[in-house]
Amino acid sequence: MPTFAPMNYEKLCQEAIEVVKDAGAFIRKEFEGFDRNVIEEKSANQLVSYVDVTAEKMLVNGLDQLLDDCGFITEENTIEQSKTNKYRWIIDPLDGTTNFIHGLPIFSVSVGLLEKDTLVLGIVYEVSKDECFYAWKGSKAYLNGKEIQVSKAKRLEDSLLATGFPYYEFNGMEGYIESLRYFMKTTRGLRRMGSAAIDLAYTAAGRFEGYFEFGLHAWDCAAGILIVQQAGGKVVDFKGGKDYLFGGEMVACCPGIYKAFFGEIQKNFAPPSNNPKAAKG
Ligand code: IPD
Repeated sequence: MPTFAPMNYEKLCQEAIEVVKDAGAFIRKEFEGFDRNVIEEKSANQLVSYVDVTAEKMLVNGLDQLLDDCGFITEENTIEQSKTNKYRWIIDPLDGTTNFIHGLPIFSVSVGLLEKDTLVLGIVYEVSKDECFYAWKGSKAYLNGKEIQVSKAKRLEDSLLATGFPYYEFNGMEGYIESLRYFMKTTRGLRRMGSAAIDLAYTAAGRFEGYFEFGLHAWDCAAGILIVQQAGGKVVDFKGGKDYLFGGEMVACCPGIYKAFFGEIQKNFAPPSNNPKAAKG
């Protein structure tokens, strides 16, 4: 019987970081003097430029060489999208495209890896700050080689939260606004960074106590989910379940605020039959 060595995720992660940083260097260079007229609108408010597309091609080419028989799930569709490969890289080449286009230096490269249905590796590289957040299955979470952990806060009152404002998917607005109304009054504040991957990476590093958003894609959050989990955080969908990678909605936070934070969101996004306000969304 042939024996197979277990996958060395740590080595794979280090190799993948090199590929991610190369794409990041390209994005950083293009950010200087970027011409806003070269963008395209895929659909309402879904922007893309040659920078997203070229960075994705760099990532696909580089990551393809690290694993035999791997597939891809990517934002810009530069390669056939895989449903069947044992290993699937999930790539957002430029998370925070709108920031990039408008000259705001808050954007990231996000690369996750699925082994069958399990996330086994995540890298979020915040390009302008040269901050690389990463984790792999069974590891701690790291920022530029130093271990990071989620916040130890236990109360919403001591929390800074992050979110993404809806900008193309507006079903669920009532529940969302209701949640904002509550958290504005009960926390230190809310931030909208414009990159879900950065929101999650900062939650893993304890900069934010929690993050929630709906209307997400797997490439926005795959890497960040694993990094939060390996940093000791909790990640759930709006019902408290595990459909957060492909389900489009998620709550991620430190354990100390989970009950109060998730509880409020769950209540506001409960099915319309239980929640007359949400029915209007
Ligand atoms: C978007 C950003 C944004 C979030 C959106 C994402 P993109 O990704 O992560 O913060 O609110 O849901 O789609 O389009 O910049 O790659």
